[in-house]
Amino acid sequence: MEEREFLTSLVVLILLLPYANATLPRPKSKKHFLLVHRAWHGAWSWYKIVALMRSSGHNVTAIDLGASGINSKQVLDVQHLSDYFSPLIEFMASLPADEKVFLVGHDYGGFAIYKAMESFPEKISVAVFLTALMPGPTLGATTVYNEALSADLALATILVRPFYSYRVEDVSKEIVLSSKRYGSIRQVFIVAAESKAMKKEFLQLMIEKNPPDEVEEIQGSDHITMMSKPQQLFTTLLSIANKYS
Ligand SMILES: *[C@@H]1O[C@H](CO)[C@@H](O)[C@H](O)[C@H]1NC(C)=O
Repeated sequence: MEEREFLTSLVVLILLLPYANATLPRPKSKKHFLLVHRAWHGAWSWYKIVALMRSSGHNVTAIDLGASGINSKQVLDVQHLSDYFSPLIEFMASLPADEKVFLVGHDYGGFAIYKAMESFPEKISVAVFLTALMPGPTLGATTVYNEALSADLALATILVRPFYSYRVEDVSKEIVLSSKRYGSIRQVFIVAAESKAMKKEFLQLMIEKNPPDEVEEIQGSDHITMMSKPQQLFTTLLSIANKYS
């Protein structure tokens, strides 16, 4: 009788082992997520996601772009997109040659990750556009920028810092992905289903004209998904990372 109980426990244990494993804090393959905020925001905007990623054992870096968050520059010091992007570009350059990141850009952060795709293709496992500006050869950066500017983006809170209005010429010069790069880096687009800051038609237009490898949608999310649906965003990012490792 005792032996049978022991065997039963053993079988139960063996059956449950894969699940027990899944709940261990250290993941089998540790991933490095690199998060890029939207205009006006800073690294702080990702704090819920950062906490979730760290507690599940992943490495996560949330960048402050120029004159954003606690970056020491002032808005007039970053009048060119290259100044604005430089913290991201410097970080990418500092990564060891054999290290790849899962790069995530929110809103205007899409332009920043697009820039990084041109300069560091070998260091990016996947580029994730979270309700972001996603240019491409068909719908170029200038069109995307003008379209985004025409939308209502005034969602100021007390934490935000001013955002420089970049000239369209600067956008057309800086935000370029060469044809040899385009399509060589996998891209995923995440739609915040209830975003009011970026209209669904605009998101659909970018997705249709510059098709990514995959489109995900976060139901019930307003534009600031990392605040309104952190758990769902975390789960989605993790599954994307597992798929595109
Ligand atoms: C995260 O990645 C960076 C860049 O490779 C590295 O310097 C840092 O030590 C890593 N942190 C952890 C906790 O693994």
